[in-house]
Amino acid sequence: LTRERYPVQRLPFSVVSEEDLAAFERITPGRVVTDPEELEASNVDWLRTVRGCSKVLLKPRTTEEVSHILRYCHERNLAVNPQGGNTGMVGGSVPVFDEIILSTALMNQVISFHGVSGILVCQAGCILEELSRYVEERDFIMPLDLGAKGSCHIGGNVATNAGGLRFLRYGSLHGTVLGLEVVLADGTVLNCLTSLRKDNTGYDLKQLFIGSEGTLGVITAVSILCPPKPRAVNVAFLGCPGFAEVLQTFSTCKGMLGEILSAFEFMDAECMQLVGHHLGLISPVQESPFYVLIETSGSRAGHDAEKLSSFLEHVLDFGLVTDGTLATDQRRVKMLWALRERITEALSRDGCVYKYDISLPVERLYDLVSDLRARLGPKAKHVVGYGHLGDGNLHLNVTAEAFSASLLGALEPYVYEWTAGQRGSVSAEHGLGFKKKDVLSYSKPPAALQLMQQLKALLDPKGILNPYKTLPARA
Ligand code: FAD
Ligand code: MLT
Ligand code: ZN
Repeated sequence: LTRERYPVQRLPFSVVSEEDLAAFERITPGRVVTDPEELEASNVDWLRTVRGCSKVLLKPRTTEEVSHILRYCHERNLAVNPQGGNTGMVGGSVPVFDEIILSTALMNQVISFHGVSGILVCQAGCILEELSRYVEERDFIMPLDLGAKGSCHIGGNVATNAGGLRFLRYGSLHGTVLGLEVVLADGTVLNCLTSLRKDNTGYDLKQLFIGSEGTLGVITAVSILCPPKPRAVNVAFLGCPGFAEVLQTFSTCKGMLGEILSAFEFMDAECMQLVGHHLGLISPVQESPFYVLIETSGSRAGHDAEKLSSFLEHVLDFGLVTDGTLATDQRRVKMLWALRERITEALSRDGCVYKYDISLPVERLYDLVSDLRARLGPKAKHVVGYGHLGDGNLHLNVTAEAFSASLLGALEPYVYEWTAGQRGSVSAEHGLGFKKKDVLSYSKPPAALQLMQQLKALLDPKGILNPYKTLPARA
């Protein structure tokens, strides 16, 4: 499947031998998985669009074990695929051929948490939702949240520089990650696991690994700054009559709720139909062409509720919003969030999904969706737009009953050219992985691409770390 759709040749890495398995058994005793059934789940991605044929998966518990594994693989010229929760959207998390899967599943220990600064230090395999629970018990929250929280690992989040639902308020992991411990391709441990807010001693090397998608090193531990848990959280779910009104609602919202605003998400009517049809979720508001989810996080419930109600009065009066509902208790807040967070799941049940994750000037965000809907006509089952509007990030998804080369041909390179025409990004938050590695040049100039290739060669001269991913193959 993978290689039919994405032609690629295996590079001349060694093939895992019996001696290699014996060596791995010495490094990670009892944690060398070779059972094909057990390997199946790690060979195929969350979207079930790419599949590798790895014969071995290793489950180290410590940084030292990761270092031994990589030193050994480097010497033997064996390719390695780092894997966290395997929730990635671009096929980066699974092998392309027979790469060894290095899973962080057992590296799930919290190392320290500082109750005054909110700095959490933990191993890379901690599951995001478990970390959230851990810091919330201590009156803090994680600076990031995403629909995959139940299975994604913090190391995977850092490796993909995941954006998600709190980006608008707490910013990128490039800002909230304070330190990293990384094992380089030859097994060298790079300990930059500091917990300092400020540190200008030379180049900030950790930044290289944030968003490097397992191609430059294996992240083994993370130091991350957690914000205090807000006392009051409100969610408003609103229906808007058009995209122009969505934009005006956003401007009004920034003006009236700016300092407490923590999320501004949008979805179109087709998304609502899909979560209704596939997941049985019921819209809490009247049917509308667009919906927005606004979250506020503040320190005084009464103050926030008052601000929110005058904002709602304003947007209703001006016809920017036609219907809406509010939630403050946790159960209803979760229910409203599910409508937005579970779109990905609904889409994956709708058939074959073509996924695009794009940054655009916010005023052009929906034009691409309308444009494609007209361009594709009955070729597509659904053409939908949703995403992190507050961050200028559109998730454009197209579904069809089955994969079709002609539909793909109608989508690409059209979508990428359209995006480049707006000086947008062809990957806002999901990364490039395996599926998007050849479109990097739509968003980056040749000199940047060349420097990336040079960095890769410097840090991983044999190219054993996540080969066939992120960067286009060299001519
Ligand atoms: P994996 O999928 O296992 O790996 C992802 C990449 O990182 C691979 O290239 C892998 O090789 C590499 N990698 C993993 N761990 C390490 C490590 N320790 N060291 C080095 N490299 C490593 N993304 C967003 O940005 N925003 C969202 O809102 C969002 N929502 C999502 C919702 C759903 C339902 C799903 C399924 C996915 C969503 N994603 C989102 C995609 C997102 O990239 C991932 O969910 C997450 O960041 C990946 O973490 P993971 O542990 O699953 O990594
Ligand atoms: C989201 O925002 O829901 C995620 O990035 C996943 C997706 O794009 O479907
Ligand atoms: Zn997203």
